[in-house]
Amino acid sequence: MNQIWNQIEELESVASPGLLVNVDCVARNIDSMVRIVDGDTGRLRPHVKTHKMPAVIQMQLDAGIGKFKASTIAEASMVAGAGGQDVLLAYPVVGLNIQRLADLRDQYPETCFSVLVDHPSAISMLAEAFPKRDKPLRVFIDVDCGMHRTGIPWGEGLDQLRDRIDQSGDLEFAGLHVYDGHLHQPSLDERQQAVTEIRQKIADYATRSGAPEIVAGGSPTFAFWAQQPGIHCSPGTTVFWDIGYAEKFPDLPFEIAAALLTRVISKPGNERICLDLGYKAIASEMPFERRLKIASIEDAKLVSHSEEHLVLETASADSLAVGQPLIAFPRHICPTVALHSSAHLIRDSAITGQQWSVTARNRTMPTENTPPSDPPFRSSLRELKWIIAIWLFNFVWVITYCWLFGYSPDQPIALTFGIPSWAFWGIFAPWGVATAVSCWFALTQMQDHPLDVDDTDEQTEATDA
Ligand SMILES: Cc1ncc(COP(=O)(O)O)c(C=O)c1O
Repeated sequence: MNQIWNQIEELESVASPGLLVNVDCVARNIDSMVRIVDGDTGRLRPHVKTHKMPAVIQMQLDAGIGKFKASTIAEASMVAGAGGQDVLLAYPVVGLNIQRLADLRDQYPETCFSVLVDHPSAISMLAEAFPKRDKPLRVFIDVDCGMHRTGIPWGEGLDQLRDRIDQSGDLEFAGLHVYDGHLHQPSLDERQQAVTEIRQKIADYATRSGAPEIVAGGSPTFAFWAQQPGIHCSPGTTVFWDIGYAEKFPDLPFEIAAALLTRVISKPGNERICLDLGYKAIASEMPFERRLKIASIEDAKLVSHSEEHLVLETASADSLAVGQPLIAFPRHICPTVALHSSAHLIRDSAITGQQWSVTARNRTMPTENTPPSDPPFRSSLRELKWIIAIWLFNFVWVITYCWLFGYSPDQPIALTFGIPSWAFWGIFAPWGVATAVSCWFALTQMQDHPLDVDDTDEQTEATDA
């Protein structure tokens, strides 16, 4: 892993702290996901919370993956906007988010949206907000298979929920959502055994009551669920991978595809260096000493972490220059990605100069009615307005002047620079001025924007406000 990340060219073109995404590794990770389900992409429902990027959705769509899992309305909106045909909002929807989901469904009528329920009151609220119109809202029952975060345990309560959904008439039972985020056993056998036990319960339920779709698992158990016919798999981290999973689950064939660029900003002595990698650039959810790894400093020991600073102790401090770029691997990539508005892309071991927007890091959803938001579009629009204004003014001047003072057979023809004065002031002068102003505007006022920066964040923030 380090080899790929140790040889990146053009790092000097990226400001730090910055998120880096190696597109080649992302492509290989998506290939591995497809291979694990034997090419049956209809059984993949990858979670988008890891990347929150429309560009990654596009890569997955290109690989034949059409169904996705999301945990926020913004993520669901991003998936629909990027062309995903089916989004499971795998999160209890309450309060205003119910209306936001309804709006989203109206906004993207071609996309199939579904949600989780694990409580009778959630069913009532959803049934009220989604009266069966042309198509009912699809709901998955969230089963608590041992994580004890959300969901309803196997048993009577589950059957009652199912009855309520069936009786509501407004909702459609889509199946079971069985997320096993508690299964982190390093031992393959133990992890597989735990999956087998959950699988048995799913089979019992499905045989008794039927379940159109069963969505199960995250990354650690992905390969086991993939071996179970009919189960839809929902890994998220697999697309970027991270050192947390890489160290814990070497059995899985994924590569680290995202990392952080940081630089030495100070050397406070005592074998210490300070990096620009505070907890506003790297997620601090992990215990202090396990938050990250620096690619080229094996003995790095974290000393302190604040908003914009990270102090490390290392015997190699003397050989590290102030300004030196370093690659850092967050232990958990998902919350770290959400701290960055865009990612700098790497292809063929070099920074490409292109960026991908982390669109769904904002919690508000971009609305369809707002105009395209990318900076080149906004600048072009502004520039177009100026050019139109200059030439419109010219047009009005020419018509008005010629109307009032144009050639008249009764008047003697006055000359300016040998040209009839009415033609000079009514045509030549305004055309010359408009041309000169246009040239000045084009050469000095127009802005250059890299065309590939896909920056929808500003729009989302504006929408929020
Ligand atoms: C409901 C749900 N499904 C799937 C996933 C993806 O799991 P992983 O990050 O292990 O790939 C998560 C992760 O948080 C999750 O909460």
